[in-house]
Amino acid sequence: MTILDVINKKKKKQKLSKDEIVFFIDGMLDGSIADYQISALLMAIVLNGMDLEETINLTDAMINSGIVINLSSIDGVIVDKHSTGGVGDKVTLILAPLLASLGIKIAKMSGRGLGHTGGTIDKLESIPGYKVEMNQADFIKQVNDINISVISQSPELVPADKRLYALRDVTGTVDSIPLIASSIMSKKIASGADLIVIDVKVGNGALLNTLEEAKELAKTMVYIGKHYNKIVICELTDMSVPLGYAIGNSLEVKEAINTLQGIGPDDVMELIISTASMIVGAVKNVGIEEAEQLCFKQINNGEAYQKFVEWIKAQGGNLDKLEVSEHSVSVYSDKAGYISGINTMQLGEIARLLGAGRLKQTDKIDYKVGLVLNHKIGDYVDVNDELVKIYLGDKDVKLSAVLACFEISDTYPKKLPLVYDVIN
Ligand code: URA
Repeated sequence: MTILDVINKKKKKQKLSKDEIVFFIDGMLDGSIADYQISALLMAIVLNGMDLEETINLTDAMINSGIVINLSSIDGVIVDKHSTGGVGDKVTLILAPLLASLGIKIAKMSGRGLGHTGGTIDKLESIPGYKVEMNQADFIKQVNDINISVISQSPELVPADKRLYALRDVTGTVDSIPLIASSIMSKKIASGADLIVIDVKVGNGALLNTLEEAKELAKTMVYIGKHYNKIVICELTDMSVPLGYAIGNSLEVKEAINTLQGIGPDDVMELIISTASMIVGAVKNVGIEEAEQLCFKQINNGEAYQKFVEWIKAQGGNLDKLEVSEHSVSVYSDKAGYISGINTMQLGEIARLLGAGRLKQTDKIDYKVGLVLNHKIGDYVDVNDELVKIYLGDKDVKLSAVLACFEISDTYPKKLPLVYDVIN
């Protein structure tokens, strides 16, 4: 068998066997398959798909490419939460310490930005000193000591995903149900959590744009979870507008801190309470209303924020040194009316162009840059009202391109729900 046989087979929309999938993953890791061949196969998968059996075989080959972490020395139910990726999605930064403050163990390995979407690890690295790498013994010790640790995916854990993820990011091969499902589930299975909660984003700022595609992705991941005897809950949530107001690494950390202090944006708070109460209800075996009250209490009494501070300090981060760019420019509305649409993906791309994400694998992130929206869908704006403030680094951005991301109309728009569905 050669990699060309495998590429040609998928190009012709044929089903790949388990042996062919294992051949691809092994060849990628031993260097016998070149990056351009990997990218060609990825594109064939994006265009022609994979069925459930192929997706499970791909997940399995990816898990077997590295170690599987044993978290049995951590007492209690270990929860892992993952998002399929969005713009302004800072949920992990808030949800993880909130749950940890309630005694729930968070042993989490997160990723970097992918395509136009941001990544938790890039956001955490905007906090000077924060260590995203830790050996397994220290990782487990920190979870046992303070209930929480968030690190980057260890190089030994699903190394196949690390390679594929970096290539997908820069070859336009991100938006594929089998590739997303196998990427997420291989990491979640290999990193050993008991309860896996996945926020599947839907809308123009998500990797998948329609509710049908998002549902199919959710069902695929729940099915893969079942195959490995794991409980997987998928929440389908809206990403047709950025979550919160801030887009960009340190800007998002600041907004997460505000939310933990009870002064965050309404949509961020709503999503946090929805996801957290679902997890608290499942882990503590209480009804959803009681779980919601517990979550609100942790925000209101400051314990969730204190846990955040304790966590960041334990990993070497210095919140006093968190910085955003001092150089900003505003974009103003050119007409009066209701904001009726936001091109969220384009705003994510603009943040990436500013330096908040990568265009090439070797690009360095500028943690201080990004965008802060002043208005969201349904807000009324007058001519010359500020729509967004852009925090600049050493890259330029066309203000007209930012303005073009906002649709303004005479009639009040229909607002979409934040949580569409839960699949488990
Ligand atoms: N998150 C992941 O970990 N992988 C994907 O492919 C998409 C989102």
